Amino acid sequence: MADCLICTNSIEPFHDFGRMPIANGFLRPEQVTDEFFFELKVGFCPSCKMVQLTELVDPDKLFHDDYAYFSSISTRMAEHFRQYAEWVREKYTAAADPLVIEVGSNDGIMLRNFSNAGVRHVGVEPSANVAQAAREQGINTLCEFFNEETARQICDEYGQADAVLGANVICHIPDLHSIFAGLDVLLKPTGVFVFEEPYLGDIVEKASYDQVYDEHFFYFSLHSVRSLARRHGMELIDVLPQSVHGGSMRYVIARQGSHRPTASVAEILNREIDNGLAHAATFVRLSERIDASRDALVGLLQELKGQGKRIAGYGATSKSTTVTNFCGIGPDLVEFISDTTPGKQGKLSPGVHIPVVPYSHFAESRPDVALLFAWNHASEILANETAFRAGGGQFVVYVPEVRILDDKTSYRHAG
Ligand code: SAH
Ligand code: TYD
Repeated sequence: MADCLICTNSIEPFHDFGRMPIANGFLRPEQVTDEFFFELKVGFCPSCKMVQLTELVDPDKLFHDDYAYFSSISTRMAEHFRQYAEWVREKYTAAADPLVIEVGSNDGIMLRNFSNAGVRHVGVEPSANVAQAAREQGINTLCEFFNEETARQICDEYGQADAVLGANVICHIPDLHSIFAGLDVLLKPTGVFVFEEPYLGDIVEKASYDQVYDEHFFYFSLHSVRSLARRHGMELIDVLPQSVHGGSMRYVIARQGSHRPTASVAEILNREIDNGLAHAATFVRLSERIDASRDALVGLLQELKGQGKRIAGYGATSKSTTVTNFCGIGPDLVEFISDTTPGKQGKLSPGVHIPVVPYSHFAESRPDVALLFAWNHASEILANETAFRAGGGQFVVYVPEVRILDDKTSYRHAG
């Protein structure tokens, strides 16, 4: 049994997704023969409550100079990060000449708001291609992994920070103790660490198992984040649920005693107890729901295919790699996946090798069914696809349950 990456107790594995390729590892046909696979298995630590992968893929294999995900591809997310930045500025940058650091700043989707406002900032982004996209917009970016060493380097050059920010990145970092050691160096005495990540409570509620993939080493709850922060002399001082990425949580952490925790922290901690997020039995039940979801999805796709319908994937998300490989959905069921990211187009999806095509192909070839892999962007996508639906096209979703969306059904899980 694997040891917890946070507290070293034994973790209890609760679901095995089987052999899995790199979630963002879209490949050219000639790369198929040496594709990398690992065992995707997730477990719960009964001691510190952290849900985590039991086998880790080396971060250098995941984050490099050809990283597939450019954050700014979504206008909805650009607006979300504008609001996130504004909220941080209002609440935590009252000092003269404040300094803001962002971990995993990608193509600058959040930091451009600080840069435009003339706030001193440093982005820390190890994937060279996305870091370069940020630099081209004048965003100050260090192309490194954030850890204790880079925190010291930044502190030496710029001094201590008012706020260290992150989004959809802290759960990507296996050595969280090094991150906290870095924060201890880098944060001013009243400085804050603010980050938001897919929330375990939403994953359990919606059985959104497609959040489980190589880059997501951890699946945070308030219980596990609080326990981690306490080990480093810090505490959880605020939490704010977010609707993005299928349900996320924003955590605010500061040195113990430096800020008074809000009422939301105690409220949501209590809700987690009611929802069983601190109990192993919840995850055993989740595993059963994941298997049932797979059977229902494969059953529905086979039925639609049997009716002669052409099925396409919508959005070559990292999450879709878990769904297609776990469910065994290949090009026989899903003809192609449409995606707006140029770097994914013309490639094959990881593991099951469904061709990824530009959006124009989806529009021109008019499939009957769109399997909504990018379900977390549903509000944006459904608003853009009224013509597809008016022409008889159907969307299939699998979160929180497998179903066909008809014109009248709203989809409240839209991000
Ligand atoms: N924050 C952006 C990007 C999320 S994708 C958003 O929410 O859209 C995760 C990003 O974190 C990638 O760009 C990846 O290269 C980066 N990353 C991964 N490990 C990191 C680390 N240790 N330090 C800093 N960035 C990291
Ligand atoms: P996303 O769900 O943000 O991420 P993840 O990879 O973490 O699961 O990825 C959305 C993908 O969907 C991205 O590759 C772009 C694509 N996409 C479209 O093709 N069309 C759209 O209208 C939107 C919003 C996204």
